[in-house]
Amino acid sequence: MVSKRSLLALAAMLGGVVLLRGRLRDSAGRIFANVRAFDLPSAAMYDALVASVLEGFYARAASEVAAAHPGGKVLEVGSGPGRLAVQLAREAPDTTLTGVDISDAMVERAARRAAEAGLAERVRFEVGDVSALPFADQEFDGVVSTLSLHHWPDPARGLAEIYRVLKRGGEARIYDLAHWMWPPARGGNRLVRIAAASPFGGAEVEIVRWPGSVPAFVLLRLRRAYEATNYRR
Ligand SMILES: C[S@@+](CC[C@H](N)C(=O)[O-])C[C@H]1O[C@@H](n2cnc3c(N)ncnc32)[C@H](O)[C@@H]1O
Repeated sequence: MVSKRSLLALAAMLGGVVLLRGRLRDSAGRIFANVRAFDLPSAAMYDALVASVLEGFYARAASEVAAAHPGGKVLEVGSGPGRLAVQLAREAPDTTLTGVDISDAMVERAARRAAEAGLAERVRFEVGDVSALPFADQEFDGVVSTLSLHHWPDPARGLAEIYRVLKRGGEARIYDLAHWMWPPARGGNRLVRIAAASPFGGAEVEIVRWPGSVPAFVLLRLRRAYEATNYRR
């Protein structure tokens, strides 16, 4: 005869197993989503292991973007832990910055970094997908993105969205991995083809050597023309 107490213990054990399985499935799901979005299991790891090493590259990108947009509104796509945004806000004190990122953990981290730097009034972050940017048409004077494009499931769609939110005459600067670091970019310059097929109609391409003379990154400079185009996707 099974006692009432044993039945209760069994029910509690089964409940615990179900709860634990759910938790494990949730964390495995989050880890996979993070690896898809930024190659590492957590935003904290990315910040500590990758972004911290790239401060010199962000400084360089920040001064290039600040020279292009000394004032006005700049959007950073795939803003990650917010290191570039903070450097950029310091370089360009008349600029307001909005960072958008698909990862809420990255957005929290970036917002904390901006607040700790006393920049929360001018630098804000929100969760969003480059495939459907949560902003109005022609809202920004400039757009910047570093090392994010190779994570976008549909880069052409991302560029079309960036075009939509950029003012006429505005410039988007998209820095991404050089083709030897990102195998899908091989076989004809894939990024150049995507840019040519986008509403921008093409890009100026620069190889960015950093650190030292290592050709580590590629920069796509995309300008939205003053006159409207007939682009349809
Ligand atoms: C390799 S990290 C680069 C982060 C930061 N820009 C940097 O240079 O350190 C890629 C970033 O892009 C974001 N990301 C990936 N896919 C995205 C998407 N579809 N829309 C918006 N952000 C995305 C990731 O969450 C991640 O923060």
